[in-house]
Amino acid sequence: MKDFVSLKAKEIQPSATLSVNKKARQLQQQGIEVINLSVGEPDFDTPEEIKLAAEQSLKEGFTKYTDSSGILELREAICEKLYRENSLAYLPDEIVVSNGAKHSLFNLMMAILNPGDEVVIPAPYWVSYPEMVKLAGGQPVICARNERFTVELNHLRELITPKTKAFILNSPSNPTGVVYTKKELEDLAQLLLSREILCISDEIYEKIIFDGKAAISIASLSSEIKDRCIVVNGFSKTFSMTGWRLGYLAAPRDIAKAVANIQSQTTSNPVSFVQKAALVALKQNEKLYQPMVAEFARRRDYLIKNLPNQVIYPRPDGAFYFFLSLGKIPSEQLATRLLEKYQIAVVPGKDFGADHFIRISFATSLDNLEKACQRLQAAVADY
Ligand SMILES: Cc1ncc(COP(=O)(O)O)c(C=O)c1O
Repeated sequence: MKDFVSLKAKEIQPSATLSVNKKARQLQQQGIEVINLSVGEPDFDTPEEIKLAAEQSLKEGFTKYTDSSGILELREAICEKLYRENSLAYLPDEIVVSNGAKHSLFNLMMAILNPGDEVVIPAPYWVSYPEMVKLAGGQPVICARNERFTVELNHLRELITPKTKAFILNSPSNPTGVVYTKKELEDLAQLLLSREILCISDEIYEKIIFDGKAAISIASLSSEIKDRCIVVNGFSKTFSMTGWRLGYLAAPRDIAKAVANIQSQTTSNPVSFVQKAALVALKQNEKLYQPMVAEFARRRDYLIKNLPNQVIYPRPDGAFYFFLSLGKIPSEQLATRLLEKYQIAVVPGKDFGADHFIRISFATSLDNLEKACQRLQAAVADY
């Protein structure tokens, strides 16, 4: 039969995280106790206040199309959040609310990339960035890291060409949990400003941060860099709302308008009653996410104390991951062995652009983490 699948679709890798999850679930269904450390979402339920707001809104019949960029009330609340928490002044027509930050990022790639435009992505990176760039007709260019696991500026300088359209920054980072310092952001901003390129700042893990630290938005460093930045954020991680699908971006007006046009002709508005629930999330804010963040901090500290001494990782100051190395073992081989022999599901680092590493998530109970540490000890002893 004729092959109807497009070349574009064939080029795209399936999400590695989702496929590990599937394999782990299959083993669990066979009655095998798998400790699943591959999860990319908080293991907490969405706070009751947010659920009630969605219910209320449904009861009130808020079930129709909305403004395709999101209701004005929510875009205003997002502007207030960005001003209050990130020192960023945006107007509602510079905000586009979408079905998750992933959707915001994809819309953005479609809005800024011409065929062959390059986007520099520092490794290790979130698995979806290169695939989204490719889908939008662009070319991902992978940049090396330094010993802090932040971008190696010398390499970045070499990679920027007239074809470079944008750079993707993700702090706190998935998969490392590394948070850029102010100085690191300033140096990066200086380099980006010296060339004509955009900075896409994915701040989705902003609030999952430990030891009293704060994630700084690169866009807040100066009005010049803000004009070059697109800030992406969402509700999935902060408010444990992954299934609700709500994210947003803030961008200079011409870019926001292009994103809004694309969204209006594709998915239209994000879910009406979810937008109403998000208003309550932003209003009650810290009270809703603080208990979850405190628990994540406890688990992170537990892992720092109890992971086998032989494993190496950058210290995660944010997000809910450790990016571990057990030496020179290729990551897919290691992940398969950990799943089959020790029943621990992890994601191979290869998918994040860093072989010889695996990503473990601590979005699971301390009980599970205790068992995982014991199993990892046994695995390390085996190598
Ligand atoms: C770095 C990063 N950006 C964006 C997203 C997408 O989040 P959302 O659920 O809002 O689409 C994720 C989700 O795993 C992520 O890890």
